[in-house]
Amino acid sequence: MLKVEAITASYNDVPVLDRVSMTAHERRITAVIGSSGSGKSTLLRVIMGFIKPSSGRVLIEGEDICSASEAEVARIRAKMGLVFQESALFDSLTVEENVAFFPIYHQKRRWRQVRPEVNALLAELGLGDIGGKYPGELSGGMRRRVALARTLIYHPRVLLYDEPTTGLDPTNIATVDDIIKEMNERFEVTSVVVTHDLESVLHVADWVYLLDEGHSVEVGPPKHLLTSDHPRVVRFTASWRKHIDAFRKLPHTPISGVAGSKDDK
Ligand SMILES: Nc1ncnc2c1ncn2[C@@H]1O[C@H](COP(=O)(O)OP(=O)(O)O)[C@@H](O)[C@H]1O
Ligand SMILES: [Mg+2]
Repeated sequence: MLKVEAITASYNDVPVLDRVSMTAHERRITAVIGSSGSGKSTLLRVIMGFIKPSSGRVLIEGEDICSASEAEVARIRAKMGLVFQESALFDSLTVEENVAFFPIYHQKRRWRQVRPEVNALLAELGLGDIGGKYPGELSGGMRRRVALARTLIYHPRVLLYDEPTTGLDPTNIATVDDIIKEMNERFEVTSVVVTHDLESVLHVADWVYLLDEGHSVEVGPPKHLLTSDHPRVVRFTASWRKHIDAFRKLPHTPISGVAGSKDDK
């Protein structure tokens, strides 16, 4: 479990996060949605221990990364994987080498030892037969899987995704959404998806928080994004209403029928 407790953070005295709180449960996908500049990436940097908040705690399986010593921060950080951020693969290395790169380069492990793990992981991700290929030969969806394999090789307990669908076309957005759900189930991790993409949140999230001007609002189940009367939520979703109305008319979506349900708040 990942627990963010009343985090306040600033850059050069300019406040960015104001008493932000959230809880991400094991085996659940928790989304933090917010528009550009709302502080999402900053929140992830605090969670990873890259920046220290001025107050508050971030508990990763009960351990506070904010007050930990440098050595402890590294150990706690190793429980987490930041996915798709700077996920550019090395084009001149094969898929197998890309996934093995960090364990060999940073952890000084041996190729002979790492290779079987890499291949087992690739097989598990449906990439068993492409270990010898180069990233340029793969589809966008496959490249995202390889990027994920690079993180999963460390067996993280928490997967943090920063804007995983940004810049993708609708087909690849759906692929990434499916990958996030699949990883969450298969590896039994705690998933946190940080995004401005409302549709993606409606598809993947179990529980949603809104980040707005550095303030967190617990929205709850994703469909509450559409029914909440919280002013910050209403303001965020207003621009999406048009899409949502069309989306709502589609059969078999997780939010179909939501218009009439006021009793599940
Ligand atoms: N390294 C930095 N130094 C100073 N200000 C920053 C830095 N990174 C982000 N900011 C500012 O903090 C605010 C939140 O940024 P960010 O966390 O990147 O938001 P988001 O990821 O939601 O777009 C923005 O106003 C941004 O300009
Ligand atoms: Mg960001």
